Amino acid sequence: MSRNVVMGVTGGIACYKAADVVSRLKKEDIEVDVIMTENACEFVNPLTFRTLSKNPVVTSTFAVPEAWKVGHVALAQKADVMLIAPATANVIGKVACGIADDMLTTTIMASKAKIVFAPAMNVNMYENPVVQENIARLKRLGYLFVEPAEGLLACGDTGKGRMAEPEDIVDYVTGLLDDINGSCAEKDLAGMKILVTAGPTVEDIDPVRYISNRSSGKMGYAIAEAALRRGADVTLVSGPVSLSCSEAINRINIKSTQEMLEACQKAFENSDIVIKAAAPADFYVANRSQHKIKKTGGSMQLELSKNPDILETLGREKAGRILVGFAAETQDLEEYAREKMVRKNLDMIVANNVAVPGAGFDNDTNIITIIKATDNSMANYEKMSKAEAADIILNHVTELIKK
Ligand code: CTP
Repeated sequence: MSRNVVMGVTGGIACYKAADVVSRLKKEDIEVDVIMTENACEFVNPLTFRTLSKNPVVTSTFAVPEAWKVGHVALAQKADVMLIAPATANVIGKVACGIADDMLTTTIMASKAKIVFAPAMNVNMYENPVVQENIARLKRLGYLFVEPAEGLLACGDTGKGRMAEPEDIVDYVTGLLDDINGSCAEKDLAGMKILVTAGPTVEDIDPVRYISNRSSGKMGYAIAEAALRRGADVTLVSGPVSLSCSEAINRINIKSTQEMLEACQKAFENSDIVIKAAAPADFYVANRSQHKIKKTGGSMQLELSKNPDILETLGREKAGRILVGFAAETQDLEEYAREKMVRKNLDMIVANNVAVPGAGFDNDTNIITIIKATDNSMANYEKMSKAEAADIILNHVTELIKK
């Protein structure tokens, strides 16, 4: 099995996150070689990447370490995947225009590997039509992108441009390597239309305040990515999260539980499998204010009304579809999970005790228990990454399809 990543680091503040990407790739037993541009070296010392990758770092076309006799060609040939993270507007522009004037761009040009960009830049730069056109051109030519996330940028602006989180980039790259190596060649979900929900929903109190649930969306996104890798046609209905997903996923962004219900009902008709990993808010604010509530009024009372239970609603219209729910509990896990599975007419439920360290919410790991309605079976799993948990959940789903 060949798992070689050549990582290009270009000059942006997100360079510090690139170090985390290298560290995570190494933990996945992936061989990493790093090429840094001159500007990247201004942000992070090459020694950091040398230490993390346990390989020499190339910083200039003319200072290629002895080990690589023919410089860029050797690295270009070694790569199964080339990952450019962070990718500045400059490197994207250069590659889109066929410019190869340093070690990184010449290696990209000489490589037949899959090439993945993780852009990171100021929002105005990212939205600049020139940059967008360069990205579109590269996508047309088969280059891949891990979308930047929205949020507060290092420059103080808010918007799209923050490099995707290291764990998401690493998930994407490991998925690509799996595909290349054929370990996931069994596209056991090919032809299946899967609807996945992820993240929290938010309910406005007034134009600036809201109530919500604790949820990072990581579990749902991991399931969506794993389903895509396994050949499914994936629709992801997502609450507000700072995660990015593959272009091939049909992502629908919503805010409130009512909006999530409507998006799910629309996608439901066309779905074979529904996996509800989201944490929708169970209540909305009935006395929501059109204007910002002033605190001068002293204490205030929120009137909360019950939101529809999306899964229960879908469960009533289920027909031949496979319906999978989650149960986030802090006690009596099995009992509550089984009760939810019956009440919501589910085929399978994934339960986790969110009070245990390493399970649920903002973690990169989860500790899951899977209960199936069909044979009443129950399987407990040790702590594992959410990417691994996603594949285990889908393995159980494929068993349900066979039945
Ligand atoms: N769910 C849903 N719609 C809601 C609330 C929850 O579809 N309004 C789904 C979740 O996506 C999850 C499952 O129902 O798959 C269980 O969610 P959970 O919060 O554990 O349970 P609740 O049904 O909300 O019950 P409770 O809060 O009483 O434990």
